[in-house]
Order: sequence, then structure tokens, then C-alpha cells
Amino acid sequence: MTVSWLFVVFCVATATAATALYDRNLAYWSPYADHPQLAVNTKALEAHHLKEFQRRQTTENKFDDNHYPTFYGAHFGTSPTVWSGGINFTHSVASGDPFDTSVLIWTRAFPLGAGPDQSVPVCVSYDVFSSPGMQGKPVQSDQAFTSWDVDFTVKFEVKGLKPDTQYSYVFSDCTNPATTSPVGKTRTLPSPNTPANTVNGGKPLTLAVFSCSQFQTGWFNAYGVAAHNTSADIFVHLGDYIYESVGNGAAIGRAVLGRELATIHDYRQRYAQYRTDSSLLAAHLNAPWINVWVYYYQSNQVLKLKIASNSRMITSLQVADNTWKAGSTNSNDSSAGCAFSASGACFTDRKLAAVRAYHEWIPVRQVETTDLLRIWRNFQIGKLLDLTMLDTRQYDRDVTDVDYNHVIASLADIPDRSLMGAAQEKWFSDTLIESQNRGAIWRIVGQQIVFTQILLNGVFADLDDWDGYRMNRQRILDHLHANKIRNTIILSGDSHANWVSDLAHPNDTTTYDPVTGKGSIAVEFAGTAVTSPSPFGAGMFTNTTSHTTYPKSPRRHASPDQPDLCADRRPEPRHSFRGFFTLTIDTKQANATYYAMSNVGTPNLGSFVSATFTVNAGEDRLARPVAGGVVAAGVLKNGS
Ligand SMILES: *[C@@H]1O[C@H](CO)[C@@H](O)[C@H](O)[C@H]1NC(C)=O
Ligand SMILES: *[C@@H]1O[C@H](CO)[C@@H](O)[C@H](O)[C@H]1NC(C)=O
Ligand SMILES: *[C@@H]1O[C@H](CO)[C@@H](O)[C@H](O)[C@H]1NC(C)=O
Ligand SMILES: *[C@@H]1O[C@H](CO)[C@@H](O)[C@H](O)[C@H]1NC(C)=O
Ligand SMILES: *[C@@H]1O[C@H](CO)[C@@H](O)[C@H](O)[C@H]1NC(C)=O
Ligand SMILES: *[C@@H]1O[C@H](CO)[C@@H](O)[C@H](O)[C@H]1NC(C)=O
Repeated sequence: MTVSWLFVVFCVATATAATALYDRNLAYWSPYADHPQLAVNTKALEAHHLKEFQRRQTTENKFDDNHYPTFYGAHFGTSPTVWSGGINFTHSVASGDPFDTSVLIWTRAFPLGAGPDQSVPVCVSYDVFSSPGMQGKPVQSDQAFTSWDVDFTVKFEVKGLKPDTQYSYVFSDCTNPATTSPVGKTRTLPSPNTPANTVNGGKPLTLAVFSCSQFQTGWFNAYGVAAHNTSADIFVHLGDYIYESVGNGAAIGRAVLGRELATIHDYRQRYAQYRTDSSLLAAHLNAPWINVWVYYYQSNQVLKLKIASNSRMITSLQVADNTWKAGSTNSNDSSAGCAFSASGACFTDRKLAAVRAYHEWIPVRQVETTDLLRIWRNFQIGKLLDLTMLDTRQYDRDVTDVDYNHVIASLADIPDRSLMGAAQEKWFSDTLIESQNRGAIWRIVGQQIVFTQILLNGVFADLDDWDGYRMNRQRILDHLHANKIRNTIILSGDSHANWVSDLAHPNDTTTYDPVTGKGSIAVEFAGTAVTSPSPFGAGMFTNTTSHTTYPKSPRRHASPDQPDLCADRRPEPRHSFRGFFTLTIDTKQANATYYAMSNVGTPNLGSFVSATFTVNAGEDRLARPVAGGVVAAGVLKNGS
């Protein structure tokens, strides 16, 4: 009786422990646990590994298991064997998406020696310490498997941590604890109810904000400057972390491996190469990141596959009658995508590969595994702020300007047209209200594309931005205005240029005063690229020494929400003034500091501050004079 009872307990415990070792590695869930093409079935994987091991046990040439000890305490036949031939932590470590008591940590544990064995998992341990020097006992430790199936990536959620606390962490080889990874630094957020003036131990909180990091067009010095020369607490990336294209980077020592991305192998190889840049590695090692998607850019530079609805595309795989392919411009890509891709891959397959590799390589949380491809999510950072990350690129987005479909200008004002998709738009409105109701001082919104209206010579500069979805933008401005939601700051990427703006209703000259900023509803800080060259400039920046050409245009005067600063581009050298900005926040002010890189043609940490801006709490506008009236690069609208 007792014996069989024990036996039952033993079996149950074993079964639980077994897949748990796989399941604790979130890379296997990448990104959607219930979708066969978008996650690894860990039960099946374990069964496969066991079967392979048993086969080796029973072959006539008896398998030599020196390198494959059984792992946990089950009896031999049901115990996975693990690799013990040594591990190389090839891509250092990273962390991301901190909450108040948990954070994600990441590494890659590549088996040493000849080609990796596809039938044996690798076992990785981690230890988290509350001291930077890893003195004393670890506050959290665990183990998990990784394998060939997820490119040997390892992604743990470390739970049970203290809020608003700095941690160090290290990974090691379970079978040889002397083999360790570099030591990473990370932190948790203050819990939602922490009083605003005690957040971050009472010091201002600094976000470093990046977008558009293209390997072949420059060295990622911006990450290095932020990691080494600012006190950034959290790194926020607003998209285009990798590029699909290959380009020609050889001249600056940045030749890209592989081809234009199509398969899972291609994507993994690209992430692996990007993560050799020492500045990027330093930035991941130093602080947690909060990312939103890359998008997809064809190397022919013509077809921007910023396609309307990623989620609908994926959904379309699950329904028999694929309406997505039937009638819209987007169907061009799903029905005939094979024909358009330089690599010959169908667009849909490519998208699946991209999403899977993203979740393997980036320490990003799956907010809701039942919502296909949702990455929009919110971080409550004490009562100081909410950091609300949107997906304005992929999630249920109506058709965008794909360069050959010249209909967008005529669609941009259609009321039903949505950039965010109904679910995300409602969630965003509710999140803003909830943030205000819970008494958070600031609402910082991270998203991919430029929000403000930008007219170049009377024409919208980029209908792929919010200018192509004007009613969606209007609904957000109306929502902020009607509900008296204060202290909202929108952060944007994508455009490869800096644009700093008061946000008012476009062309509103009655309630908004562009000189004082009175009547402004919110503020936008849009940041330039880490390396990607600026497509803007012709007509607006041909003469950056002249601060008069820009405000002289009467049309632009007629558009009060035109940016107040168009900073940072100098015609030559081409790679000058790529960069990033920081946002430093306390209860009274949010200060944006724009950093310009001296030269991204070589790895270096040369940079200067091109402009600084202040937003005073309660004012919803840029403090005047904007940027103190002086910028070191760029053009101020009403500036000196
Ligand atoms: C470990 O990986 C790094 C980065 O890919 C590589 O430079 C190094 O040669 C590898 N070490 C061994 C022993 O394979
Ligand atoms: C930036 O950090 C690097 C590395 O710590 C250091 O060598 C350099 O002097 C710093 N630059 C500035 C301007 O502080
Ligand atoms: C589909 O895309 C191709 C370019 O790749 C373009 O020539 C064609 O007009 C597009 N068709 C539609 C219906 O938009
Ligand atoms: C603002 O005015 C410009 C120039 O007259 C016009 O092109 C644009 O459509 C207007 N914007 C909105 C949102 O109405
Ligand atoms: C640039 O602007 C400055 C100041 O207005 C002017 O003196 C100069 O001639 C301009 N240069 C060009 C190339 O237009
Ligand atoms: C913002 O900048 C102002 C002006 O330089 C400074 O007085 C204030 O302390 C700064 N606040 C923060 C949070 O950095």
C-alpha cells in the first residue's frame, strides 16, 4: 500500500519535473504555446529525446554515454540525458521586461565540439544575486533545458524578487558548474503603489530610447554610449532591432552574413551576428530592455512589408477559407508572396520564422499566450509612471503604404481605419484611464512610428506613420483631451530622424498656441536611428546652418503640431548624427536629452548632446523656450 502510494507520487513528480525542465525555458514557448508552428511541443520533444536515448541504449554497438549522463532522479528509462561535453555561452547575457517581483533573463548555451547533437538537451543553471559582486547566497536559482530546437537559447522568468532592486545574474553548465557566462546586471521595477517620490530609490528614472539599428550601415555605438556614458536604468527599443536586408557593409567591416531573411535559420543567424557588436552586448549586459517588434524590409528597398495585420495573417492559417488572401492589397503578399521575396520564401512562412526567432533571442514577455502575436503591454512603475508599449506596426493594422499601392492618401481619413486594431485601441484607452485613476504622474507611451503630423511642402511626409491613420490619431487625442488625461509623452522610432513636438489636434489654431504651447494635449519625442541613414532631409535639411528656412514656410505655420525640432541630420559624412535619446523622469519634470554619435563608421564612443528638452508636470507641452532656445544640431521651429 505504502509502497505503491510512494510509487505513484514518484511517477507524478517525475512526470512534472520532466517537461518542467523544458517548459521553464520560455524559448520553447516562442511565441505562442498553443500554435504548432509557433512553439515547440515540449512533451513531444522530451519523448523524442528519450526515445533517441533508449535507441542508443539498445543498439548493438552500445552507445557510449560518457557525454550524456542522465539528469534528474528518475529511473534510467524515463530520465532525459543531457549534454556534458562543455558549453560556450556564445552571446553573453541579456535581461528584459522587468516587473516588480520578476524579470526575464537570457543566454545562449552552445554545446562545444563538433556539430550539435539534435537529440540531447543542454542543461543550464542560473543564479541571481542581490549584490553586484555575487557575494553570499543566490536569492534565486533554477535549471532548465535548451536544445537545437530553439537555437540553444535560454529564457527564464526569475520570480520572487524584491521590487525596485538591482540584481546580478550568471548562468552555468549544470554538468560542470565551473563553466559560467558573463555576469549580467538587471533590476526590478518598483511595485505599482510605491509613492512617486521614492521610485528608483528617490532618484530620477532614466529610459534610453532606441530604434532602427542596421548592422551594415554602422556600428551600434549608440548602445555603447548609453551603457557606458549615461545612467540609463532601462533600455527601450522601438523596433527595427534587426534588418532583413543584407546591404553592403564590407567597407566599414560590417558585411552581413547569409541572405535576405526567409527561414528560421536565416533569422537566427542574423540575430547571432547582430549580437556580436560589443556595444550591443554591453547594453544587454548592463540593464534590462523593453522591446517592441522589428518590421520587415525587403532588400530591393521597394516593398516595405509593413503589412496591415500580422495577426490576421496568422489567424488566416487557422481558418479553412482564407479570406485574407482574397481581396486586399495585403493578399498580394500572402497569395503571391513567394514570387515577391528575393529569397523565394512565402511571406507567411517568413513571418512565422521572424516571430519565432524574435521570441527566442529577445527577452520579451508573452503577455497573453491566447492572443496571437500580442506584444502590446504595460509596465506600472510605482506611482511615477506607466510605460505603455504599443504595437503600431503589426498588430491588426489596416493596410499601409506599401509603395506600389498609391491609394493610401485617399484612405487616410476614413474613420473606421485603424492603426492599432480595435482590441489594442480599447486596451490603450483603458490603460491611460487606469493609469490616471491609480494616480501615476506620467504616462509614457513607447511605440514605433511618428505620431505628429509632418507636412513636407504641403504633402504628408510618410503615410506609413500616423498621418496615414488620421482618425485613429484623432480618437487618441480626443480621448486624452476629453478625459483630462495629463502628462502623456509619446516616444517614437522608425523615421531615422529626430522630431520633437507639442501634440495638438492637427491644424488647430484656435485652442493651441504654437508660441507658448498653450492648449497642447501631450508631447512627442521621436528619435533618430541607431545607424540607419535618414531618408528625410531633402527640402527640409539641405541647409542645416539656416534656422530660418523651416519656420518661414507658411504652410508649416498653418500646422501647429508640426514638430518643434527637426534635429540631427548633417549631409556629410553620411553616418553622422545617428543616435538615441534618454528620458529622465521625476515627479516634477521629464527631460529628454538627444545624443548624436560622432561617427558610426567605426566602433567608438564619441558623441555629443545635440539638444535637451523639458516637460514640466502638469503642462502637457514642451517648456519654453523650446530646447532652451539652442540646439547643437538640427532646426528649431521658432528657434534662435
Ligand atoms: C565561443 O563563442 C565565441 C563567440 O561565438 C567564439 O568567439 C569562441 O571561439 C567560442 N569558443 C569556443 C571554445 O568554441
Ligand atoms: C564613456 O565611457 C567610456 C567607457 O567607460 C569611457 O572610456 C569614456 O571616457 C566615456 N566618455 C565620456 C565622454 O564620458
Ligand atoms: C502587387 O505587388 C506588385 C509589386 O510587388 C505590384 O506590381 C502589383 O500592382 C500589386 N498588386 C496589387 C493588387 O496591389
Ligand atoms: C492640415 O492642413 C494641411 C494643409 O492645408 C492639410 O493638407 C491637412 O490635411 C490638414 N490636416 C488635417 C488632419 O486635416
Ligand atoms: C545656408 O544658410 C546660411 C544662413 O542663412 C546662408 O548664409 C548660406 O548661404 C546657406 N547655404 C546654402 C548652401 O544655401
Ligand atoms: C530637468 O532639467 C532641468 C533643467 O536643466 C533640471 O533643473 C531638472 O533637475 C531636470 N530634471 C530631471 C528629472 O532630470
